[in-house]
This record gives sequence, C-alpha cells and structure tokens, in this order.
Amino acid sequence: MPFTPNRDFKLSPRLLASASGVTYQTADGGAVLDGISGLWCVGAGHKHPKIAESMKTQIDTLDFASSFQVGHLGAFKLAERIASIAPKNLDRIFFVNSGSEACDTAMKMALAYWRVRGQGHRNLFIGRERGFHGVGFGGISVGGMINNRKVFGASLLRSDHLRSTWDPANQAFVKGEPEHGYEMADELESRIIALHGADNIAAVVIEPIACSTGVLVPPKGYLKRIREICDRHELLLIFDEVITGFGRTGNMFASTTFDVVPDMILFAKTVTNGAAPLGGVIVSRLIHDTLMHGPRHMAELMHGYTYSGHPLSCAAALAMIDVIEQEGLLEQVNALSPYFEEAVHSLADLD
Ligand SMILES: Cc1ncc(COP(=O)(O)O)c(C=O)c1O
Repeated sequence: MPFTPNRDFKLSPRLLASASGVTYQTADGGAVLDGISGLWCVGAGHKHPKIAESMKTQIDTLDFASSFQVGHLGAFKLAERIASIAPKNLDRIFFVNSGSEACDTAMKMALAYWRVRGQGHRNLFIGRERGFHGVGFGGISVGGMINNRKVFGASLLRSDHLRSTWDPANQAFVKGEPEHGYEMADELESRIIALHGADNIAAVVIEPIACSTGVLVPPKGYLKRIREICDRHELLLIFDEVITGFGRTGNMFASTTFDVVPDMILFAKTVTNGAAPLGGVIVSRLIHDTLMHGPRHMAELMHGYTYSGHPLSCAAALAMIDVIEQEGLLEQVNALSPYFEEAVHSLADLD
C-alpha cells in the first residue's frame, strides 16, 4: 500500500466500502466524514451524478483510444475547455494520469525547450523545502520532504532548493497571506542564481500554496517577486497546482487568485473530482511553439503515456468543469472560506 505502514495496517485494516457526498461508509458498517476530500480531489462530493452520467455515456461510446498518432474528440474538447479557464496565454495542454507524471512531464518540457533554444546546459531545477511534487524522480528532485528523498538521493536530478516560506516566529496564527516574509523570494536571486548562474537553470518549480507539509499560504507579494526574478533572468516558472487547481482557492487556479501567471501549470486531482485518474501540464503558447520544431513527420516531444487523455478521464473532467461552473462551486468556496478561517482561529485561540 502506498505511503502506508503495511504491516501495521494489516493488524487493523481501515476498509471503505462506499461513498456519497461527504461521507464514506466503512466495510464494517460505520460512517466517516471525508474531511480531506478523498485525497484533496473530490471537491464536488462523492458520486456526483453528472460526472457518473458523463462517464457512463463515454464507456458506451468509446472506451479507449490511444493518443499516440491518433486522437479522440474528448481529449481535444477538454484541452480547449481547460485553455478557456486557464490564466491568459496558457492555452496548450498535455495530458497525463497523475500529479507526479505532470511534474516529470513539465520538467522534461523545460529541458526540451532550452535544448531547442540552443541552451541545453540549462538543466538545473530549483524547488523549495517542504514542497511536494509527487514521487517521480523529477518530482522528488525538486520536492523538499526529506523522507521522500533520502533513500533515492543518489539518483535525483540536479536541483537546489529555496527555503520554505513557513516562518512560525512571524507567521503563526496570521489570517490569510502573511504580511511578513515576501523578501524570502529574493534568495532566488541573491543565493541560488548567484551560486549556480541563471544560464544553468532550467526552471523553478513551486506550489503556489505548499499543501503537503501543512497548508503554507505564501507571504503577500512573494509569488509576484519570484515571477519578477524569473523574468529578469529568463527562468521558466512552473506552478504545481495539483491541489490548488480547479477551485480550491475560490478561482479555477491559484495563479488567478494570486494574480501571478507562470509559464506552466501542473494539474491533477480535482480535475475529474477523483472519479478517474487524469493530470496534465498547461503551457504557454511560447513554450508550445518553441517545441514545435524539427522535421514535420517527427514527434516533437518523445514522451507520453498509454493512458494520456483517457476517454473516461476526459469525460469525467468535462463534466466536473460543468459542475464547478453550473453549481457555483467557486462562489461556494469564497462564501465558506471565512467560516472555516474563523473556526480554525477560534480553535487556535482555545490553545
Ligand atoms: C502539489 C502536488 N503535486 C503533485 C502531487 C502528486 O500527485 P499524484 O499523487 O497524483 O502523483 C501531489 C499529491 O498529493 C501534490 O499535492
């Protein structure tokens, strides 16, 4: 079992049997509140009927089609739909099956982009301490969770890390974005670029809000500052929105919430409401057009997965975007956020 103490689990298995809305039924007849939304992926509640219906229709129409050398309508329709809700200028989509694959894919795209531009020596990646980008070798290289890295350390990609934005001495119990700490972004320039040289760096990969080691909302202005430094030194900026994407911050993407547009966005999880595996990378037109290079009969990016853009996943995602839009889920997030914020802070006050 993934990320599970297997022997311990077998002594006392926690087995789920069914789900509906925000509740799981356990195999022994109990009920559990799904307070973590599956694994941060069931934003519209379990077994949403519109998503189920879309998937049922799809499996009766086209159960599988490869995306190698052929395409299918659902994948193109979904790509157009995602392009229409993504931040401006990010409108080219590559589908994968998970957040980990999205991260590795984006990192490969960054390497390919610089190679086409005659700068193949840009192969160092910058991540951040306490970051999580899945479990592929790319993702753990830029990730900053020690237990996920230490066993595999000898085989990681070249990387360096910004420090985490979490600064409890100045940020504990603040509401929303902390006032203090935006200057932590400056070390990208003063320490990392100064040490390695911008012309050796392929990309900076960070989550707009780091989620796996506590929900670490960035200090006010931090992400804008990172964007400015990346612009100044021509570094690609990749936002991992695997958790924050598709509504969690009250907009479709946290990039919109923080008003900072990266060069690539990674998504997965809530895009299908968890009903089928799907992830992807949204890239800028510039990156896409740069990669469209070489003889026309050759694949431009030698990369992809058997289940990239699986028809069932695309059907689930198309229905999920409808649900978010038609059922006002973004508005609901915005309306509920202050309530949860108050509740969390009143618990903190009790301490
Ligand atoms: C920010 C972030 N990136 C990537 C991943 C990896 O996604 P997956 O488990 O689908 O590979 C996760 C998973 O929690 C995540 O939180």
